[in-house]
Amino acid sequence: MKLILLGPPGAGKGTQAEKLTKYLTGLHVSTGDIFRYNIKNNTELGKKAKSYMDSGKLVPDELTIDLVWDKLDSIDKDKSIILDGFPRNLSQAKALDEGLKQRNDKIDKVINIAVDDEVIIKRIAGRRVCPNCGMSFHVDNNPPKVDGICDNCKHELIQRDDDKEQTVHKRIDVYNEQTAVLIDFYKQKGILTTIDGKKSPDEVFEDITKSL
Ligand code: AP5
Repeated sequence: MKLILLGPPGAGKGTQAEKLTKYLTGLHVSTGDIFRYNIKNNTELGKKAKSYMDSGKLVPDELTIDLVWDKLDSIDKDKSIILDGFPRNLSQAKALDEGLKQRNDKIDKVINIAVDDEVIIKRIAGRRVCPNCGMSFHVDNNPPKVDGICDNCKHELIQRDDDKEQTVHKRIDVYNEQTAVLIDFYKQKGILTTIDGKKSPDEVFEDITKSL
């Protein structure tokens, strides 16, 4: 199964992708995580992506689309894939469709996780992430077992650079201007399901699995 998780910043895409990866024994492909990995390792891609990410803008398509194909082409074709954060505008969605068609493949399902702006701001303010394995927590809603420490790899948790309030507002604007249009794009293809993302992570997960 090839699945896209759509939704604004802080909707819970990463949280649900982790759960779905186990449920489908698939692979989680997050463009945000790939960029953060490159920034951490100071690669050429990381240097180019950093200023866009820090200001809440999208990284240009010419840096993003090839990167996704490099990743997808390296994965066994029979493996389930959970795409998180890609596509993020119409040209990325069309490039994905076209590339999959050339490979006799397609997207099976798009899950749109819907939450309003107020919820997003609260979630992102309380988010803590593991810079080592990428696992995401929330100080109130999804706390780690030991305060400030990753459950998975025991590394110290941090706050993301782009989680400052001003940047979050910019990310929400960018989502509304460039990404939200994908809801209609996939609705017209008959493969989109919208899930109420305000429920607890377990309830959201249950609703997603019911829809698959
Ligand atoms: P990216 O890393 O993709 O960030 P995002 O889409 O803004 O999404 P987030 O990671 O902020 O949120 P999420 O929906 O994954 O929520 P999470 O599960 O963490 O992108 C970052 C940047 O990279 C972009 O701004 C852009 O610059 C660049 N980029 C990435 N992809 C790109 C592309 N394709 N093209 C161009 N540029 C690209 O949850 C948030 C918090 O809420 C956590 O603390 C979590 O524990 C908590 N939480 C989750 N679910 C629930 C729930 N149901 N109830 C209560 N709390 C919850």
